[in-house]
Amino acid sequence: MPASPFLCIGHRGARGHAPENTLLSIDTGIRLGADMIEFDVQRCEDQLVVIHDPRLERTTTGQGRVEDVRFDYLRSLDAGQGQQVPTLQEVLDLVEARVSLNIEVKSAGGTATRIATVLREALAEGWRPSQFLVSSFHLPELYEFKQAAPEIPVAALVCGVPLDWAGCAVELGAQALNISAEFADTRLLHDAHSRGLKVYVYTVNHPDDMQRLHAAGFDGVFSDYPDRVIANR
Ligand code: G3P
Ligand code: MG
Repeated sequence: MPASPFLCIGHRGARGHAPENTLLSIDTGIRLGADMIEFDVQRCEDQLVVIHDPRLERTTTGQGRVEDVRFDYLRSLDAGQGQQVPTLQEVLDLVEARVSLNIEVKSAGGTATRIATVLREALAEGWRPSQFLVSSFHLPELYEFKQAAPEIPVAALVCGVPLDWAGCAVELGAQALNISAEFADTRLLHDAHSRGLKVYVYTVNHPDDMQRLHAAGFDGVFSDYPDRVIANR
């Protein structure tokens, strides 16, 4: 991850400006100056695809569950403004190591180890481990990723305040704890910092909240509007 006073992470690319999790959205996030781009990855047949929901209806012209449909069908759909649902490889090819990537593992059952294979190939082609941050709410799946690619940083995702505070992230060997804005508790922040972890907050779209979280000592935010983070840090 780049050294930055307050990390600007484009959420699903730049979701406030372009259809989420598309190449257009990711490119827009880069153009707006994000330090890192977050996107969601699931398996579809033997492919890794960039889409948030388990179902297709909200973000595409299709129907069904991502894990049940054929990859060819998924690729025939419009994900907004004529965009296709991208593959992980297409995102890597588009970004070409210009910014860091936060790859959120959405589906379980082997998705993480497949992602590890793709990212290790990317390392061989010139990406640096510090340009990736792999995260998941599914901590056992994330643990499998860490076993498969120990050199790539991971972040535990939580939506709430765990009983052991930031302990779960330490157990995973994580570099960061990514928390929901609803639960941006300063005791959790201080516990994480005392354990050497960065703390990034999702999803923050109002400038007042960006400034408040920055002042409180959080390390960065995910935003649908990366331009607002740049303007308020
Ligand atoms: O990774 C941060 C954030 O994206 C987690 O929630 O539902 O937007 O994937 P969600
Ligand atoms: Mg996400």
